Amino acid sequence: MCGIIGCVGRGDGTLDTLLHGLSKLEYRGYDSAGVALVDDRSVSVVKKSGELDALREELAAIDVSGRVGIGHTRWSTHGPPTDGNAHPHRDCTGDVAVVHNGIIENYQSLRDELAESGHEFRSDTDTEVVPHLVEASLESGADPEAAFREAIGRLEGSYAIACVIAGTDSVFVARNDSPLVLGIAEDATYLASDVPAFREFTDKVVYLEDGEYARLDTDGWRVSDIDGGTIEKSIETVTWDPEDTGKSGYDHFMLKEIHEQPRALRQCLQGRVDELRGTVTLEELGELSLERVHLVAAGTSYHAAIYGAQLLQAKGVPAQPFLSHEYATSPPPAEDAIVVGVSQSGETADTLAATREARRRGAETLALTNTVGSTMARECDHVCYIRSGPEIGVAATKTFAGQQTALNLLTEAATAGQADRDVIAALRNVPGQVQEVLDSSKAEAVAEAYLDSDAYFFIGRSLNFPVSLEGALKMKEISYEHAEGFAAGELKHGPLALVTSQTPVFATVVGDGELARKTVGNVKEVEARDAPVVAITDGQSDVARYADHVLEIPETHPRTAAILTNVQLQLVAYHTAAKLGRSIDKPRNLAKSVTVE
Ligand code: AGP
Repeated sequence: MCGIIGCVGRGDGTLDTLLHGLSKLEYRGYDSAGVALVDDRSVSVVKKSGELDALREELAAIDVSGRVGIGHTRWSTHGPPTDGNAHPHRDCTGDVAVVHNGIIENYQSLRDELAESGHEFRSDTDTEVVPHLVEASLESGADPEAAFREAIGRLEGSYAIACVIAGTDSVFVARNDSPLVLGIAEDATYLASDVPAFREFTDKVVYLEDGEYARLDTDGWRVSDIDGGTIEKSIETVTWDPEDTGKSGYDHFMLKEIHEQPRALRQCLQGRVDELRGTVTLEELGELSLERVHLVAAGTSYHAAIYGAQLLQAKGVPAQPFLSHEYATSPPPAEDAIVVGVSQSGETADTLAATREARRRGAETLALTNTVGSTMARECDHVCYIRSGPEIGVAATKTFAGQQTALNLLTEAATAGQADRDVIAALRNVPGQVQEVLDSSKAEAVAEAYLDSDAYFFIGRSLNFPVSLEGALKMKEISYEHAEGFAAGELKHGPLALVTSQTPVFATVVGDGELARKTVGNVKEVEARDAPVVAITDGQSDVARYADHVLEIPETHPRTAAILTNVQLQLVAYHTAAKLGRSIDKPRNLAKSVTVE
């Protein structure tokens, strides 16, 4: 949902620094981009619809520079992705430029009021009211910092905002409900929606909280409250390297991240599993015990939440998954439930709304997230990190596997009774088994075989039900093909009407027990309707007899099998999208981090 970058102190390198930062933030939105640079007494703004390269081309043709700058990459909320709606937005004089991530809910009344007093608007965006509000305060005699503060004081809604004003070598910053982090180096200060934007230049960060303001200038930085009082902030150090946010020779971040899964899972398990003693420990949770659990999440994380609820239920813990946007607005009774927010980014507005609602009603909350220092990690009572490392591709891959793994750890560590030794052994093996799947997968050939299909269906039971939902979500997100996931038993209750010879059915069948037998029955049903069948299987059942293609996984515990089957489906989606020439890392209309409700 829009990426913001800003920097002070990079001298002649300001523009390059902004563009570098925007390239690292493009995953947040990529329908237009722009920069504002302050030099001497003027502010220059260059912005362009399309991906960042369009802005680069535009900049190559003009001479623009500045000592202080801000930049933005957009995911549209108000107004289509045009040059005019791209950020930064300016006031009437052109002396104030603003970038914004979030939604200003009262923008229409502010816009009417400003228009009445003579301000002229050039865009359809909610953001444009901000530079005009700053302009109005400057006109009434406020100094730049006070003018910025006054403007922000008028806003309702969510925002991460950065503003530059001609005549000052400063960037003014405010945060409410949208992420912002400062990067602190000896010779320069940065701000961004996410750390990768400036990680190349520093590993020292300061996370801003809701209601906080910051001013970055050539003398350093200061964080303050609404009244201007200084807030002492601690400087934290990020632990991952700048290279972790590059493609490392892969064609796409998504493919790189799929291949990073063995390492990501090892990191997730490290120091948390003692195979000899048969124990799982999540030190960060202390004595937390899960008696009743609500898991709240959206998208891929919701699929992980379904999987996690199934694990907990199998341990006798009443656990339910909820779509976070539904939970936030129609919360169920939650007596003694611990509410677990499952979120890769820890910034998803819907999921934050759900954990906040839970806290408001007195529930204890736990963030299960990949992002250290994220809003959810800071707001919840407890946090469990999945340790997948930065994920840039919009389609979540390694973080889903990380969530599955961490939910196994959570289930073993925080429920009554001894940890399950078979599960511990299976978890130990899973990074190596994911590697086996990656090394031997025939998913590319399967993708090729079904490229011209009318639709793609995914079926599975129990722990492979959420995997089927996830397989379909991956396919639709990046290939733009119609795909649906179903619990295998549900197929005959309606979706079977859609099944034809042009709709391949991807069936996950693990083990040779009752679940496998029943799913093989469903496979026969679709086969009888001429649908091609792709079986994702460990080979224990006879599903291969009825399948046109088989994608194999090693035999393992059913819990970790659901991690391996998902890897095969990730690869099918990836290769389908690659063969169709889709924009894999930046699919149309989507953004990595959905910070608006
Ligand atoms: C996953 O491929 C999607 N991009 C999306 O569904 C995502 O999982 C969802 O927006 C939730 O994000 P979160 O995990 O950061 O909360």
